[in-house]
Amino acid sequence: MSLRNILFLVNGIAVVVFLALAILGQRGRKPAPPPNEIEYYDDETMEGPKLEKYLGAGVIFSAILAASLPAYWLLEPTRQEKMDKFFLEDSAERGRQRFALAGTIEGHSEILQLECARCHGSKGEGGVATYVLQPTEPGELVRTVSWAAPSLDDVLLRFSPEEVTQIIVYGRPGTPMPAWGLEGGGPLPEQPVEDLVNYLQSIQLTPEEARKRNTERAQKIMQDNPGISEGQALFMAMCARCHTKGWSYGDPEVMGGGGAFGPNLTGGVTLRQFPSLGGGASKHIEFVTDGSEFQKTYGTQGIGSGRMPGFGEMLSARQIDEIVLFERGL
Ligand code: HEC
Ligand code: HEC
Repeated sequence: MSLRNILFLVNGIAVVVFLALAILGQRGRKPAPPPNEIEYYDDETMEGPKLEKYLGAGVIFSAILAASLPAYWLLEPTRQEKMDKFFLEDSAERGRQRFALAGTIEGHSEILQLECARCHGSKGEGGVATYVLQPTEPGELVRTVSWAAPSLDDVLLRFSPEEVTQIIVYGRPGTPMPAWGLEGGGPLPEQPVEDLVNYLQSIQLTPEEARKRNTERAQKIMQDNPGISEGQALFMAMCARCHTKGWSYGDPEVMGGGGAFGPNLTGGVTLRQFPSLGGGASKHIEFVTDGSEFQKTYGTQGIGSGRMPGFGEMLSARQIDEIVLFERGL
């Protein structure tokens, strides 16, 4: 029997017993005499032992109150912290179940599974999504491609929790990433999206681990493309997916020429945005390190949308210098 049913039973029994007692209590009861006919204590008793008894009880209860208030005051913050931690863990656990592939959650889950893992990997390490590309030019055919889905075990190192929430709510139109939030036309209200972000928070790599992985990615690209600079390899590993059309499905067009998502960086664009005269290279470096913020200006005429990630925790300062050097030559 489940706990719920046991509680139902206990409540049922309590109601029956209560009714039975009430009915029995009514039977054979004589009407009480009117209150003005009942004799009460005389003055001697009322103002003597009786009064003292009540005053004594008052002192004891005041003392208990005086002692318990500080105790409450001392314990309350820890209690609140514990509840916060409990709610956060509970939320992350729901997010974990939503994220996972159906059939991989132990026990019974009442949570609708969204299977982010299908594209982003079971540990959020990244994966691929099959996607149908619509033709963009006359004569082109519909194409099915494999679109790389980015790792999410480091997504909060490059985006703030609010930015990740925005991405989940609105998705990435024109890519396999669907909109999940009601505002973006998806199925989820706020709470499940928050659960997903809390779950992602709980699986983040440390900056050191992320840097190590990114360095290895760039090294592999350098091995596969002998002769390219370290800056270019790092750009291919970290930036090209947004700043180069076709990069994510293995059909790259002009390197740095802009994708659906990130703007074109070729033809001296970054030199105009961060001109050398105004200490541009260091502002350029600062921008790549911190990323953009919604409605915050950057460079000469940039207005951030919050969609350009910050790489300060995912790459070393030297690596960012190398990328910026490469970008300023595009
Ligand atoms: C059908 C495959 C698919 C599913 C399912 C999916 N995603 Fe994505 N997601 C993608 C792809 C592909 C991208 C990258 C799009 C691009 O190239 O800009 C992405 C991007 C993201 C990003 C942005 C990461 C970054 O650094 O740019 C986040 C965050 C994200 N997804 C979270 C989720 C969550 C949470 C779920 C589950 C509710 C989910 N995704 C389900 C395919 C998917
Ligand atoms: C998730 C997609 C994404 C990734 C990955 C990304 N960017 Fe961006 N980037 C953007 C977007 C979007 C903008 C436009 C600014 C905005 O919307 O806030 C931008 C803007 C820029 C700009 C300013 C361009 C201008 O003229 O205004 C530079 C420079 C830049 N990115 C460099 C980089 C570098 C370097 C990397 C890799 C280390 C990188 N980006 C990775 C999305 C991305």
